Amino acid sequence: MYGTWRCLLGGILLLQLLRSGQALDNGLARTPPMGWMSWERFRCITDCKLYPNECISENLFSRHADLLVSEGYAAAGYEYVIIDDCWLEKNRDSKTQKLVADKKRFPSGLNALADHIHEIGLKFGLYQDYGTNTCAGYPGVINHMKLDAQTFAEWDVDYVKLDGCYANISDMAVGYPEFGRLLNETGRPMVYSCSWPAYQEPAGEMPDYESLKKHCNLWRNWDDIDDSLESLMQIMDYFGKNQDRIQPQAGPGHWNDPDMLLLGNYGLSYDQSKLQMAIWAIMAAPLIMSNDLEAVRPEIKAILQNRAVIAVDQDELGIQGRRVATRNQIEVWQRPITPVAKNGHHSYAVAFVSRRDDGAPYRITFTIKELGLKNPNGYTVQDLYDSSRNLGVFKNGSEFVTRVNPNGVTFYKFTAL
Ligand SMILES: *[C@@H]1O[C@H](CO)[C@@H](O)[C@H](O)[C@H]1NC(C)=O
Ligand SMILES: *[C@@H]1O[C@H](CO)[C@@H](O)[C@H](O)[C@H]1NC(C)=O
Ligand SMILES: *[C@@H]1O[C@H](CO)[C@@H](O)[C@H](O)[C@H]1NC(C)=O
Repeated sequence: MYGTWRCLLGGILLLQLLRSGQALDNGLARTPPMGWMSWERFRCITDCKLYPNECISENLFSRHADLLVSEGYAAAGYEYVIIDDCWLEKNRDSKTQKLVADKKRFPSGLNALADHIHEIGLKFGLYQDYGTNTCAGYPGVINHMKLDAQTFAEWDVDYVKLDGCYANISDMAVGYPEFGRLLNETGRPMVYSCSWPAYQEPAGEMPDYESLKKHCNLWRNWDDIDDSLESLMQIMDYFGKNQDRIQPQAGPGHWNDPDMLLLGNYGLSYDQSKLQMAIWAIMAAPLIMSNDLEAVRPEIKAILQNRAVIAVDQDELGIQGRRVATRNQIEVWQRPITPVAKNGHHSYAVAFVSRRDDGAPYRITFTIKELGLKNPNGYTVQDLYDSSRNLGVFKNGSEFVTRVNPNGVTFYKFTAL
């Protein structure tokens, strides 16, 4: 009897050991990372004479770090300031073979920039590429992985985004974990953002999610986002259609990444901005802005800093949401969140997304059951975009009515009773 018990206990311990071995254990990204990154808005603008406020330069990052603090974004949780592509000299240092930041555009060097970012309480992120070159043609890490991991640590980098241009797709399943191991060996904790699924899937290869979870804190699943509703909807559809495969992979320390927030730029209306923010929160997506923080209009800034919506994204359970119903071109997306009621039922964030463009807000009714909500004690409901609006208590038999603007969203928290 005792022997059986001990054997059982041993089995459970082994199982726990295996479980904890399944996810990257660097203590980082326990909730989806939040911050600001240059690519979507600033791309590869390198002409600082023509575009002094937009070129990829220490000025851009230092200024945006300051703006994150002074405009209240840091207090709302936006933390990482991430340099995307086009920060490098075209060649490595001929003696040391080290990567070199562009000398004209980063005259003070990356250590000085990192120091400034750290001094004001933020964290520093940097882009590189697993291949021979970055996507914009600067040197990649492929034959210098150990040196580059060490250089990143020397530059006090806190977050690494590793892209996958100019690389052999079939090498990625081995190469990305290898770079992750080298980052770990430096002893400096760095969030590791991988891109290999975004290259494998379009090439018809299925990503190994167990490996992704084990080696990366987040990974880009699909195409780059562009500044349009069309691009946003394509990404949403990819996540909706593939959710059975993708959704279970997310959790504390390891996240799917549908790419940057477009809010504050040119392509999305006010309603569409609310839509992206709500669906990114449902998807437990990293909230990485890419915009000119000096030019963000107040009503868009309010969406980006909406504490109730951010709390859904950052929910401690880390369960990614799903698209659970579609009727009359209204999609229902929901995500289990805290608080969990005494009877064990989760609360939920529920978004109603209109894919309609026929001119008037569309009124639609769902039963609580149709929303996938099963708590027999019911829920109190709050409008996440208007926290002053409490909609009352809804139970099993009740009907929930909402009215959604064209290409817009309504977003609610159903708190389990
Ligand atoms: C991909 O692999 C082929 C064959 O091994 C090699 O010739 C080529 O240089 C590799 N390409 C890159 C970008 O590493
Ligand atoms: C390196 O990996 C080990 C084992 O997973 C982990 O305990 C440690 O925190 C990691 N260190 C860094 C700096 O990421
Ligand atoms: C919901 O209500 C129906 C009928 O109103 C009842 O049959 C069912 O058991 C209820 N379900 C729960 C989970 O309370």
